[in-house]
Amino acid sequence: MDEKEEVVLVTGGTGLVGTAVQSIVNSDKNQFKGLKFVFVNSKDADLSDLTQTRSLFERTKPDYVIHLAALVAGFYKNLTNHLKFLRTNLFINDNVLRMSHEFKVKKCISCLSTCTFPEKTKYPMDETMVHLGPPHDSIYGYSYAKRMVDILNKAYENFYKYNTSGDQSHTLFTSVIPTNIYGPNDNFNFEDSHVIPGLIHKAYNAMKDAKDRGLKRNAFSFIEYRFYEQKIIFELLC
Ligand SMILES: NC(=O)c1ccc[n+]([C@@H]2O[C@H](COP(=O)([O-])OP(=O)(O)OC[C@H]3O[C@@H](n4cnc5c(N)ncnc54)[C@H](OP(=O)(O)O)[C@@H]3O)[C@@H](O)[C@H]2O)c1
Repeated sequence: MDEKEEVVLVTGGTGLVGTAVQSIVNSDKNQFKGLKFVFVNSKDADLSDLTQTRSLFERTKPDYVIHLAALVAGFYKNLTNHLKFLRTNLFINDNVLRMSHEFKVKKCISCLSTCTFPEKTKYPMDETMVHLGPPHDSIYGYSYAKRMVDILNKAYENFYKYNTSGDQSHTLFTSVIPTNIYGPNDNFNFEDSHVIPGLIHKAYNAMKDAKDRGLKRNAFSFIEYRFYEQKIIFELLC
C-alpha cells in the first residue's frame, strides 16, 4: 500500500518565484515522490485575513509550508506606499506563521529579501547582519515587515524552548534571503515592476516602435561592433 503523501503548501504559488518552484517540481516528479504540492494565491485565501488563512490551513492540512506570498513591487510603488507594504506584509506573515504553529506543520520556510539589509553595511553580507542598522529609506515599509519574519522565527523557537508541555513535536521556522530575481511570469508593468523587467519592457517597446516606424534592426550599432568592423577593414588594407 502507498504511504500517505505529505502536503507542501506553497503560498504565493502563482507569482514569479512560486511558478519557478512549480516548474522545478513538475520537471522531476521522482525527486519529490511522496509529496503533494499545493500552490495557492490570493484567490484561494487573502492571507492578510486571519479567518481566511485558518480556513486555507483547514482545507489543505499542510505538513510543510513554503511561504512566498507577499505584497511585492518595485521602487516607485514602495516609495509611495510604505504603510500598505508594512501592514499587509506584517499581517500576511503573522497569519501564515501563526497557522503553521497552530496546525503543527513540520517546517515553514519563508522568503526574506536582500533589501531588508541595512543601507550602510559591509560586504560580503550574511544573515547575521540583517538587523545591524536601518534599511534604505525608500523601502522601509516592506523591509521592516520582512525583517519581522526573522524576529517571528526566533520568537517561535524561544516559545518552544520554554513551553514544551511534554509535546516535543514543533514547527521548524526558517527563511532564505534571495537577491533581486527576474524571469518568466515576472511583473513587467512600468508602474510597479522591479528594475530588470522594467528595462526589458522598455527595450521591447523601443524595438516594437522602431519596427512600426519601418526602421531596420541595424539602424543602430553598438560602438564596439563598428570599431571592430573598421579594424578589420584597416587590417585588410594594410
Ligand atoms: N522578486 C524578487 O526580486 C524577490 C527578491 C527577493 C525576495 N523575494 C520574495 O519572494 C517572494 C515571492 O516574490 P515574487 O517576486 O514571486 O512575488 P510576485 O510575483 O508578486 O507574487 C506574489 C504572490 O503572492 C500572492 N499574494 C500577494 N498578496 C497576497 C495576499 N494578500 N494573500 C494571498 N496571496 C497573496 C500573489 O497572489 P495574487 O497574484 O493572487 O495576488 C502571488 O502569488 C516574496 O516573499 C518576496 O518578498 C522576491
